[in-house]
Formats: sequence, C-alpha cells, structure tokens
Amino acid sequence: MKIVGSYPKTRLRRLRKSKWKRDLIAEYNISRNDLILPIFIREGKNKIESIKTMPGVYRYTVDKLNIVLKQVKKYNIPLVAIFPYTPKNKKNNLGTEALNPNNLVCKSIRYIKKKFPKIGVMCDVALDPYTSHGHDGIIINNKIDNDETNKILIKQALLQAKMGCDIIAPSDMMDGRIGLIRKALDKKKYYDVSILSYAVKYASSFYGPFREAVGSKSQLKKDKKTYQMDFRNSNEAFREVGFDIKEGADMVMVKPGMIYLDIIKKIKDNFKIPVLAYQVSGEYSSIKYAIENKVLDENSILESIVAFKRAGACAIITYFALDIAKKIK
Ligand code: PBG
Repeated sequence: MKIVGSYPKTRLRRLRKSKWKRDLIAEYNISRNDLILPIFIREGKNKIESIKTMPGVYRYTVDKLNIVLKQVKKYNIPLVAIFPYTPKNKKNNLGTEALNPNNLVCKSIRYIKKKFPKIGVMCDVALDPYTSHGHDGIIINNKIDNDETNKILIKQALLQAKMGCDIIAPSDMMDGRIGLIRKALDKKKYYDVSILSYAVKYASSFYGPFREAVGSKSQLKKDKKTYQMDFRNSNEAFREVGFDIKEGADMVMVKPGMIYLDIIKKIKDNFKIPVLAYQVSGEYSSIKYAIENKVLDENSILESIVAFKRAGACAIITYFALDIAKKIK
C-alpha cells in the first residue's frame, strides 16, 4: 500500500473536526439488519429467570417469549437463535430429548412461527443441551463418535425443519455433517431451509457463561478439544470452511468472534460466502461486567460490534443485540 500526502499540506485531523464530517466519511456502520439475538428458554410457566454468569440475559418460559419477541419485532431484529435449558431428568447418554417433537426448542419454534411469523428462527444442531455428559456428540468406547453422532444430528435437523426453523446451524463440529444434513433436508424437500455452519468453532474458555446458561457446565467432563478447533491454528479454519461450502453450507460462522477477527477477515477475502460472527457469552460477560463496575462505558459495546464489520462479518450474533438496536436510529 502506497501512502500519499504528508504534513503540513495534509492534516488528517481535518476530517475528524466535527461529528457530521466523521459520520459522512465513516466506512462501517451497524444496522439492525446485522443483528441476531440469542434467546434462552426453560421449562415451566410464567417465569423469567436471570442467569448468574450473564447479567442482563434471561431464561424465558415459552409462554413468556412474547416479552422479548415484542422487542425484537419493535426494533426490527431479523433473526433470533434459540437455546434450551434442559432439566437434568431429561438428559441422558444419547441426548434423546433432542429428538422429542415436544422439547423446548420445538415448542419455541412453533410458538414464534405462530405469533411472530416474520421473525426468523435459527437453531443449533448439537447434542450438548441434552446429554448427561455435556458433550455435543455421543460417547462410544470413551470417544465422541463422529459417524454415530451424525446419524442423530440429521434427525435433529429434520425435526427442527419440520417445526418451521428457517436456519439450521450445526455447532457440533462433527466431520461431514453439513453434507449429510443438506442431503436429508433436500430428500424431504426442505429446499428453502438454510444451513449456517459453525464451520470455525474453537475449543474456547469463552463459552463458560453459556454452558452455565444451558445447564451443561456442571455436567461437562473434560474439554471439547477432540472435536472443536485448537486456538493455536488458523490453517484448519480454512479447510473447515472449504469443506463445508462443498458440502452445501449457505453461510459460515466464526466463533468466538472478538478474539478471532483475523480468521473472519481471511475467510471474507478468500471465500465468496456470507461470514457471520458470534460474540460469545464470555466476550459478552467480560464487557458487561466491566460496564457494571464502571471500568468501561456503554460505548464499548458498539465499538466491539463495529470491529466485526471491519473484519468482514455480514451479521453478528450477540447478547447485546437489543441494546444496540435501541441505540441505532
Ligand atoms: C453448543 C454451543 C456452545 C455455544 C453455542 N452452541 C457451547 C459449546 O460448544 O460448548 C457457545 C455460545 C456462547 O458461548 O455464547 N454446541
């Protein structure tokens, strides 16, 4: 890159002088269309429950979802991602609750599609909310078994599509699941159901608060390093993305987001596919706690989100989605 101009003929501060000038030349702006709100759901009736590790985030019973969805509608957030908090007595080794047509996710999709048909719904495909060991796949001979897990994930995805889910988001990191899920969806003529692959998902400490939110934290034995990515690597991120595009992914996700902006940027530059980013629970809570303790101010939220746009993300999943949407005109 050749830099032209020099002081004193050129003064870079000239363009920073007034707000209107700064706004005029701003390269990246967040719009409400860029935001995806994750929502946690729980069993029971008439309850909105706070989550210890995520101040400002709540678990809703299905009948209370309208409280948050009214806001989503009012502020024109296009898409919500739903995550279930499954009671212990419904978890087992095989995560069979994932395939129950009356589980929390299925009930929520039906509720949203009936009462708020214009709001998009996306769902995780993975078994961790449902397994007694907290892993995303099933365990055979002490290992997370890839191919046997895939068989269940296909059924989970088909069930979500049947309930009316718009975007299927496999977050399990099993090899080959995108192709298998696409094939199964097509066979049942779910041509319009999109797949957003969590193609690049690192084994991260920044998921801690989320695991508390979905109740898998105390369950989880060992870590997820045999299937989620090693944070010392970037090459395999591109292999993951390349494979998933070939298998039929419509969009890919990088997760966590804030600490992997380099990966987002390189995918954006090298693959012609929409890249989304997930500002995960640990990233959210770090900022939120700092704001609550007056270590950071509220503007840090928008700054953290614009960073994703600069890196090339087209949309961001963030627990701050409503806070941001309220601020944007
Ligand atoms: C489950 C899943 C996780 C997140 C989204 N889906 C956690 C994990 O893999 O352990 C993390 C989201 C967040 O931290 O906000 N497959």
